[in-house]
Amino acid sequence: RFDSIAMAAPDAILGLTEAFNADTRPDKMNLSVGVYKDASGVTPIMKCVKAAERKLIEDETTKGYLTIDGLPDYREAVREMVFGDQVPSERVAIVQAPGGTGALSVAGGFLARQCSGGPGGPLRIFVPTPTWANHNAIMQDAGLLVENYSYLGSDRRTLDFDAMLEDLRTKPKPGEVVLLHACCHNPTGVDPTAAQWKAIASVIAERGLLPLLDFAYQGFGDGLDQDAAGLRTILDHVDEAIVCSSYSKNFGLYSERVGAVGLVTASAEATKASLSQLKKVVRSNYSNPPRHGAAIVATVLADADLTASWKEELETMRLRITHLREQFVAGMSEQAGAPDFTFLLNQKGMFSFSGLTPMQVDELKNKYGIYIVGSGRINVAGMSEDRMDWLCSAVADVIGN
Ligand code: LMR
Repeated sequence: RFDSIAMAAPDAILGLTEAFNADTRPDKMNLSVGVYKDASGVTPIMKCVKAAERKLIEDETTKGYLTIDGLPDYREAVREMVFGDQVPSERVAIVQAPGGTGALSVAGGFLARQCSGGPGGPLRIFVPTPTWANHNAIMQDAGLLVENYSYLGSDRRTLDFDAMLEDLRTKPKPGEVVLLHACCHNPTGVDPTAAQWKAIASVIAERGLLPLLDFAYQGFGDGLDQDAAGLRTILDHVDEAIVCSSYSKNFGLYSERVGAVGLVTASAEATKASLSQLKKVVRSNYSNPPRHGAAIVATVLADADLTASWKEELETMRLRITHLREQFVAGMSEQAGAPDFTFLLNQKGMFSFSGLTPMQVDELKNKYGIYIVGSGRINVAGMSEDRMDWLCSAVADVIGN
């Protein structure tokens, strides 16, 4: 029985944090998992979150179960933030979920049960090459067949838009699912332009594909509204879609697991039926979601002052990440013989897709205790101004070898 169980490979992202924690070198640096750190190396609790928590401690009267679909005020706040006036509320089913991963997993479970893959087998979902490592595992576990569409060009720096569009035109069949990163593509930071989003949306609509948007980094690209532009374009073109949103990053609520599935349907009847089926997926999985993190988001978004403070704090994080990225690029330009890294300045969000090879990534870890993801993805939000020179010389060293 259990003594014949084979060891699983460590997780491509969270496994690195486990290795980092076990590393005893005092000057180690974790640039793997997408978590924001301030100048003192701490992942801070936002002021608006602390204020909301104080209020909750005073006002909360029960720890009774939430309903299967979650906290009503939170669900309404998510509906307003993600869909606003664009989609009538009777056409949107919202289910609170434990983080973006939980949201994707509920969406995957719903799709596998409710949407047919046709006579050829399970429903297929098309994900970009590359994509967040966990997308494949989540969707496979849900029972979907994961296929790829082209995304990053062979230069490893720019979107190969022609190849992407060609794949979307020819690979998925009508009714099949296309996963899109709504903003701040993970791991590459390479996003489509406004014109490209329009073309993607047209192909999706013309071919009758179902868009599933992973919306985990709103506010970290160009700003809260700007980062929703691609999603808005898609929603302008289709009457059915799924949006999996996460508030781990933009509220700094990583450990509270706050996310949501927003399912857009073509009619009020379809919304009711879809919601009932989403709830079945949740019930047999984790029954109902945890309250605290969702209550924080709902409390902040229900209060004009706290909302203003949240937007300000988020903007500060966004601008600091941009500054760190610029500092890194400038630092690398001062390293003798190092390649030009200015292409990183076009990338959006927390990450820089550096082009470092798996061997260079290994060497950074072994020689310097600098942990980045095997794909060469560096979490810029984990860098520090003070240690930038050290980081740049370590990167230059492994590139030079
Ligand atoms: C990441 O990509 O680092 C984050 O989305 C965290 C995670 O769960 O992998």
